[in-house]
Amino acid sequence: MNVLVMGNGGREHAILLALKKSPKVDKLYCMKGNAGTAQIAENVNVDYMNIEAVKKFAAEHPEIDYYVVAPDDPLAIGIVDELEAMGKRCFGPRKNAAIIESSKAYAKQLMKKYNIPTAEAETFGNYESALEYVRRKGAPIVLKADGLALGKGVLVCETLKEAEEGLKEIMLDKAFGSAGNVVVIEECMRGLKYTPGEEVSVLSFTDGKTIVPMITSCDHKRVGDGDKGLNTGGMGTFSPCPFWNKELEKEVLEKIMIPTMNALNAEGRTFKGCLYFGLMRTDKGMKVVEYNSRFGDPETQVVLPMLKTDLMEIFEAITDERLADVNIEWEDGSCVCVVLASGGYPLSYSKGKEITIGDVGDCTVVHAGTALKDGKLVTNGGRVLGVVAKGANTEAARVKAYAAVENISWENMFYRKDIGIKYREG
Ligand code: AMP
Ligand code: GLY
Repeated sequence: MNVLVMGNGGREHAILLALKKSPKVDKLYCMKGNAGTAQIAENVNVDYMNIEAVKKFAAEHPEIDYYVVAPDDPLAIGIVDELEAMGKRCFGPRKNAAIIESSKAYAKQLMKKYNIPTAEAETFGNYESALEYVRRKGAPIVLKADGLALGKGVLVCETLKEAEEGLKEIMLDKAFGSAGNVVVIEECMRGLKYTPGEEVSVLSFTDGKTIVPMITSCDHKRVGDGDKGLNTGGMGTFSPCPFWNKELEKEVLEKIMIPTMNALNAEGRTFKGCLYFGLMRTDKGMKVVEYNSRFGDPETQVVLPMLKTDLMEIFEAITDERLADVNIEWEDGSCVCVVLASGGYPLSYSKGKEITIGDVGDCTVVHAGTALKDGKLVTNGGRVLGVVAKGANTEAARVKAYAAVENISWENMFYRKDIGIKYREG
């Protein structure tokens, strides 16, 4: 099979690396890709947000058998629907199911209707009513822009003043553009043992009939060590989650995952693809923080290396709605991904810095914001590389990853020093 993956980041490079291991796959393509994807796939210079351009490309390339739509924005505009209408086989939800991520207000309303545990919330399209609600509820409180905002449209406000300013930013100043026309205002959840909260990412495979959780992972979203500073797309991940156990898995499957799949079916929005559950362990049990309609980034970088089963076989089984027939297996041990970023990220940063990569042992360097310029590897984004290491446990993998990081550099490169250290007992 010839398979195309849409997207440009570390997640897409990680998906391609997993597909490359499949005996089913002949040739890989990436639209548009980066310098890392170019090493294992043919990069295709087509804008995947331009529906007509994607359709034209698909019509001109009948040799491509399968399309993997990895990022949230092409899913939200219905790229899968368009490709399927042309008879193409795809991995990723249709537009009507991708709404579970593209509208936080929709996701909240769905959870409320089907009794899926989550923070109590109200949705507002009007600034005055939202302000009145915030003042009535008081702090701490969480504000969320309804639409897609590169993972940055969420404000956890510790004081009423912060909440009032945040509401103005989202709804009046339009800090996240039209994503902030509607705002979701939520109760602030606290972790069972740790503050601000114990979070776990549970990605799942689902064909709408069966839902199978993948191995768990934890993201480090803030830019600075000790979870300080601005929210980012994710500065590093590790797998599995240290507080995860069989009882939690049972609780999450029965109270959250299966009810979500069934709710989407009941609403006529059957979800096929990777459904991502961002969860928090609270004193009232596991609750949903967010849904994503796709693989997480950088969760994918630590989850897929642990997958023993052929990823292409799973993708095809989902397309054909026979996921129940596939036995999905995971390696023992742990995996850690340390993200290397451009100085200034998540605010402004420069691009085009030459990258030097020395000996990384048996670690994998996953590319995100990289490009080739005059034959040289240069930075081309905020999150540039992910260094992925496997080990017998998280500590062993962490030590290995950081040893490799020592041999990678460019001007103003930075990274968090505490990836893999989270929710430790004591
Ligand atoms: P999201 O983009 O929805 O994942 O939100 C970003 C981060 O904000 C989450 O990873 C949580 O740490 C935090 N967060 C979101 N909603 C809540 C909530 N209701 N209570 C506490 N923290 C939250
Ligand atoms: N790492 C969080 C996300 O992909 O949304």
